[in-house]
Formats: sequence, C-alpha cells, structure tokens
Amino acid sequence: MQENSLGLGATERKDLWWLGPVLTVAGLSLGFGYLTWAAFLGDPAHGHWGPYLSPVYSPPLLEWFPSLTGIVPHWVSPALLILWAPGGFRATCYYYRKAYYRAAFMTPPACAVEGVPYKDYKGEKYFPFILQNAHRFFMYLAVGFIAILLYDFYKAFWFPTADGSGTQFGVGVGTLVMGINCVFLSNYTLGCHSLRHLIGGKIDCFSCNQFTRARYKLWGKVTILNENHMLWAWCSLSSVVFTDFYIRMVANGIFTDFRIF
Ligand code: FES
Repeated sequence: MQENSLGLGATERKDLWWLGPVLTVAGLSLGFGYLTWAAFLGDPAHGHWGPYLSPVYSPPLLEWFPSLTGIVPHWVSPALLILWAPGGFRATCYYYRKAYYRAAFMTPPACAVEGVPYKDYKGEKYFPFILQNAHRFFMYLAVGFIAILLYDFYKAFWFPTADGSGTQFGVGVGTLVMGINCVFLSNYTLGCHSLRHLIGGKIDCFSCNQFTRARYKLWGKVTILNENHMLWAWCSLSSVVFTDFYIRMVANGIFTDFRIF
C-alpha cells in the first residue's frame, strides 16, 4: 500500500461518483453471466427455432463440420467453440478495459477517488495484460462474425412451409429482433478503435490520391460510430443477450413468435 493512501474510495467528491462503477459491474455481470450460462447449456436446439439461430450458436460449426463432433470433448458445447472470438474481442476492447479496470478492479473506481493500489502492475507489457494487445486480431474475426450474422438475418425471412416441403418468405418478431441485433453489433464492431486506426492510421496525406481520399471518407464514417462506442458496446451486449433469450423462449414454447406477414 502506498504510504499516503487514504483508503479505498476516499475522495472529496460530493457527487454520485460510485453510481457509474456499480451500474457497470451489475451490467457486465448480468450480460456476461447470462452468455456464459447460455454457452455452457450445450444443446444448440434451444438456440434454434424455425429460421432463427441465436448469435450464441452462430456459426453452427458442428453442423458445418460434423467430423468435429468426434474430436471435440463432450463438455465443449457448440457455443463454446464460437464464443471465445467475440468474447476475446469484447474483453480486450478499449472501452470495456476502461469499464472493468475502473468498476471491477477499482484502479481507481473514478477520477479523484482512491483506488486499490496494485504495486506489481507493470502495464500491458507482461502476462496477463499483454493479451490486451491481441485486440486487433480479435477485430479481424469480429468483422467476419458480422457477415455471418447478416447471413443468419437473411435466413430469418425464410420460414418452413406447413408441409415441410420448402420455405416461404415471412417476417416474424424474431426476424426483427435478429435485425436489430445485427445493427447494434455492426455499429459496435465498425466503431472499433483498432479498425479506425487500420483505416485512417499510418498515413501522412489524406488528399494525395484516390485511395487515400477513399480511406479518409471511410475513416470519417468509422469515427462517427467510434464517438459513441460505449453506447454501441452496451446496446450490442444487450441485444445479443435478448436475441438469444427470445429465440430460447420461442424454442421452448414459452413465447409465441408472432408473424407480422
Ligand atoms: Fe472496442 Fe475495438 S476498441 S471493439
């Protein structure tokens, strides 16, 4: 402990500085707690109904590669094969780092508030925090996941016919839920700080040629999303949880999926 430490939470602030960290811990625990529970359930049938596929079970790797079934240990659910990638993307996200360094690690919990002193903290150069540097690699995977979820959204318009002989176009509440999830996830992923750097970083002249001008335009669009990265982080976490919950409830007969047309 530092000699001049006043103790955890000591501050002269009179505002509700503790409210942000408390809400953040509650939100992260609920969101990631639910997704961990859903991932360990193991039965993909609960995340799949009619044309709907939960984002927790997409892509359905064991359906695409049945030979994996014999190789993967029985305790590894289909969701666990997938979730390490979006999970790693979120865990190393610049916004989430700020959120859990403050709210969970309390280093410090808020500006001008005494935090937990970590004498041995050496930055992000050593294990385990060196893993934060993998964010850009998770980002490449996350962009691929957006393409897969958009494909799932397209498939959510095609309902099995009553006699099971084919599919017909339709829109259900689940279609809309999956569409909103795609919008939120896209806005979160495409506003990533690493992606913004990839598009507009390491360049000295934006106006020099057609390619750099195009990069500048794209960088401007990513920047608009990036400015609200925290908002999209929470919207997309909530929408992934809700989409899985909705499809699970419909698959178990607890909710009825209303067809809009
Ligand atoms: Fe948040 Fe990349 S910085 S997703």
